[in-house]
Amino acid sequence: MKKTVTTFQKAKEEGRKITMLTAYDYSTAKLVDESGIDSILVGDSLGNVILGYEDTISVTMEDMIHHGAAVARGAKNALVVIDMPFMSYQTSVYDAVMNAGRLMKEGRAGAVKLEGGRSVCPQIKSITEAGIPVVGHLGLTPQSINAFGGFKVQGKSQEAAKKLIEDALAVQEAGAIAVVLECVPAKLAALVTEKLDIPTIGIGAGNQCDGQVLVYQDLLGMFTDFVPKFVRQFANVGKVMTEAFAAYDRAVKDGSFPAEEHTYQIEDEVIEKLY
Ligand code: KIV
Repeated sequence: MKKTVTTFQKAKEEGRKITMLTAYDYSTAKLVDESGIDSILVGDSLGNVILGYEDTISVTMEDMIHHGAAVARGAKNALVVIDMPFMSYQTSVYDAVMNAGRLMKEGRAGAVKLEGGRSVCPQIKSITEAGIPVVGHLGLTPQSINAFGGFKVQGKSQEAAKKLIEDALAVQEAGAIAVVLECVPAKLAALVTEKLDIPTIGIGAGNQCDGQVLVYQDLLGMFTDFVPKFVRQFANVGKVMTEAFAAYDRAVKDGSFPAEEHTYQIEDEVIEKLY
């Protein structure tokens, strides 16, 4: 059954955990969808895990639309959330609504996600009023990596923890349907989860959040440039892939692939006349 924003809200009310996983292409989206995951995030982490950038800053609207639309074609049931890339919403409310509209019209997003607290609430409010559901993102917000001075746990001081709670309440008030909490101490994330009526989706924020999200390459052990503390590798697909690629390399080089069963036949007399 197609998951919608109502699915998120109902899950929170009924105390059921929400699952979210990233995907960036059609075939992966199909597999994630078939697994029963509630929501697929086309994260701007595609900058890191797909495009090989060292951060998410260079990701464009065109990147997000291109990958978002591919995911949307593969996701029959999961709610597809597409990230608004850096500078697609910070500049003005007008830009934010126009770009969120593009992610929905061209990328077929069911919701968009943007980073930030009170400073982006006017954007959240206007996008929501335009009929586009918004997911907030607080704590470690990778688009602000240069302002943070690196990937660090957020909200640890009294002041920072208070600000995070105020930001979460403001984002909810502005109309967000859920909020991602990234790299936040578990007890603080639990308190935010208790205070909010909308679901919290944690990544590095402990198990008291209403749901969890991971980058699928992290979960599958396919991306080892940087493995954050909060990642559990549920499989070592990276190793399986490398072994399969090496087996293919050997088989081609030793002539055992392609074999008879992979080969198309032609009548001998057709070939003979060509000599
Ligand atoms: O871009 C992304 O994948 C994200 C998740 C890490 C929450 O924003």
